[in-house]
Amino acid sequence: MTDSILVLNEVHSYIEQHHILQGITFNVTSGRPTVLLGRNGAGKSSVLRAIMGLNPITSGEVFLAGAPVHGLKPYEITRLGVGFVAEERAVFYNLTVEENMRLSILTESEITRARQEMIFELFPDIKKFWKSKAGVLSGGQKQMLAVARAFINDHQLLLIDEPSKGLAPIVVDQLGESLVKIRDKTTIVLVEQNFHLASMVGSDFFILDDGRVVHQGLMKDLVDDHELKKKYLGIG
Ligand SMILES: Nc1ncnc2c1ncn2[C@@H]1O[C@H](COP(=O)(O)OP(=O)(O)O)[C@@H](O)[C@H]1O
Ligand SMILES: [Mg+2]
Repeated sequence: MTDSILVLNEVHSYIEQHHILQGITFNVTSGRPTVLLGRNGAGKSSVLRAIMGLNPITSGEVFLAGAPVHGLKPYEITRLGVGFVAEERAVFYNLTVEENMRLSILTESEITRARQEMIFELFPDIKKFWKSKAGVLSGGQKQMLAVARAFINDHQLLLIDEPSKGLAPIVVDQLGESLVKIRDKTTIVLVEQNFHLASMVGSDFFILDDGRVVHQGLMKDLVDDHELKKKYLGIG
């Protein structure tokens, strides 16, 4: 399908003898923010890491805008236009916010300069703390910086792993509003256990359980599907 920015086809991943991903198949449509949901240990982070070439793909295929990327190295996948915000917020505490941003730019261009202006508008704290060490930022501000570091590049796809982790509800709301503002600039694939944030940002969803996709659909339908939410997400 031409409008699929990302396709996973029967992806299996073993780490030593552990069969972590057990045939993951899904499509992400270009321009449609997509959420991966599922309990702790369901395999959400492993899916993102497999896409990025950080975890082994033992069998199966991954296509980015129609081109095969399974087997490529993480830096090659990054250069093909996939941004990754890992679960462990990747910011350098001893560098300033400005230095953190500068280090993350892959190729400076009109686009990265325009993105920087956009980041200043979307995340005012990044501008405010521009000359401060990133270590002084709050948890929420560090998370915004981690997202901004990926978003400054003109990626076609942005993978974000549980950005809400450890944040207060009001900060999660702010983060959600920022993600809503960037979701028409790049296709977001968001891993979340916070259903509120997931429903703010996502158009489409996939639920993972035990290394498999067990459900998929439109986020707006899942909001009212209390049975499904209770079964796989432990909420409702
Ligand atoms: N390096 C590893 N070695 C062995 N098992 C792992 C490793 N990484 C993850 N797992 C296991 O794989 C499963 C999926 O983990 P993960 O993708 O982190 O889940 P999620 O992000 O959905 O919480 C879990 O059962 C976890 O214990
Ligand atoms: Mg995880």
